[in-house]
Amino acid sequence: PYPVWRRLRDERPLYYNERHEFFALSRYEDVSPALTDWETYQSGRGSVLEIIKANIEVPPGVILFEDPPRHDLHRALLARVFTPKKMLALESKVREFTARCLDPLVGSGELDFVRQLGAEMPMRTIGFLLGIPESDQEAIRDQLDKGLSLESSEDFYQDGFMDGSMFVDYVDWRANNPSDDLMTELLTAEFTDETGTLRKLTREEVLTYVTLLSGAGNETTTRLIGWTGKLLAEHPDQRRELAADRSLVPNAIEEILRYEAPSPIQARYVARDVELYGQTVPAGSIMTLLNASANRDDRHFPDADRFDIHRRIDRHLSFGYGIHFCLGAALARLEGRVALDEILRRWSEWEIDWTNAKLAHTSTTRGWDRLPATVGR
Ligand code: HEM
Repeated sequence: PYPVWRRLRDERPLYYNERHEFFALSRYEDVSPALTDWETYQSGRGSVLEIIKANIEVPPGVILFEDPPRHDLHRALLARVFTPKKMLALESKVREFTARCLDPLVGSGELDFVRQLGAEMPMRTIGFLLGIPESDQEAIRDQLDKGLSLESSEDFYQDGFMDGSMFVDYVDWRANNPSDDLMTELLTAEFTDETGTLRKLTREEVLTYVTLLSGAGNETTTRLIGWTGKLLAEHPDQRRELAADRSLVPNAIEEILRYEAPSPIQARYVARDVELYGQTVPAGSIMTLLNASANRDDRHFPDADRFDIHRRIDRHLSFGYGIHFCLGAALARLEGRVALDEILRRWSEWEIDWTNAKLAHTSTTRGWDRLPATVGR
């Protein structure tokens, strides 16, 4: 998509797609303020093009698809149990889950960055956080993945992203067997609701939050780990430098996030007429905000198409910006950093087996489905 996005930025900074009836903003200076202007660019009808078009009703609590004041209330509640401090305390667990994926492969000379690490470790991490037994995590991941490789928007709710049916048993079980996990906290936390009443969450509400966290946190992080393998295969000098000095890993992960946004497009419903580039975007339209394109805008990031682990990054938009800024960003960064660090401890050389690699492009994410490589020291 990058040559197309460059042309949009240069030639059609406000683009209208007649066939599918949506507008697109692609420059950093346009995407960034639009992400923060939630009054004009609303998420309440969904933030995925297909969902806005299909007019789907979303249960309360799916904060990705809510506007203030509801969004803020629900986000505050979730932020109370899902704190950066709690996520950072997970580092040793994330390391353990990563080592468990990688150790059996040492000596084999082979690693599929996605199948054997990217699709495994984030799922175990979020599963651990929620308190879901490991033996059941695989089945849940398969279910969640289905919702993200959808053919139609109806599938989105019927068998995927927001279908929480696979969590029902855990929620009910936890309700009677409290532990120190996040699900227990959601079940016991008291909060003030829209009507000003102090109460606990209902079973359905807990289910919604659990499903949201699993849906938003798995596939995106899988994609980040895939891009890490791909980009460092293509930049062997930078890879060797990282292997020699792993203190460079956190900035490398930021650069990977900037360079290949796992969630490249955020859609919004336009709530009032907007004047842009001498044109009117009428209220009621759909606007897509191409955050992945903004990350490659030379007007903001000098020589933006150059991948550089030393780059000083002036806020990439891969986690969004404004009120919907990714709630799991601290966890995603931790997972990306630990994954790369643990890979580099074992291998500093790798080459992708391109004949068996597979790119996946869904309505919400972009990245690798399979990325097998030969690996060595
Ligand atoms: C929101 C990207 C990992 C939970 C977002 C948004 C983006 C994003 C772009 C904003 C969407 C919008 O503006 O409409 C990513 C990427 C990740 C990642 C690229 C990994 C590399 C995670 C993880 C979790 C998570 C690990 C939690 C376990 C959420 C939630 C929201 C969100 C709950 C909604 C926030 C709100 O609407 O207020 N993410 N995310 N994400 N993310 Fe992430």
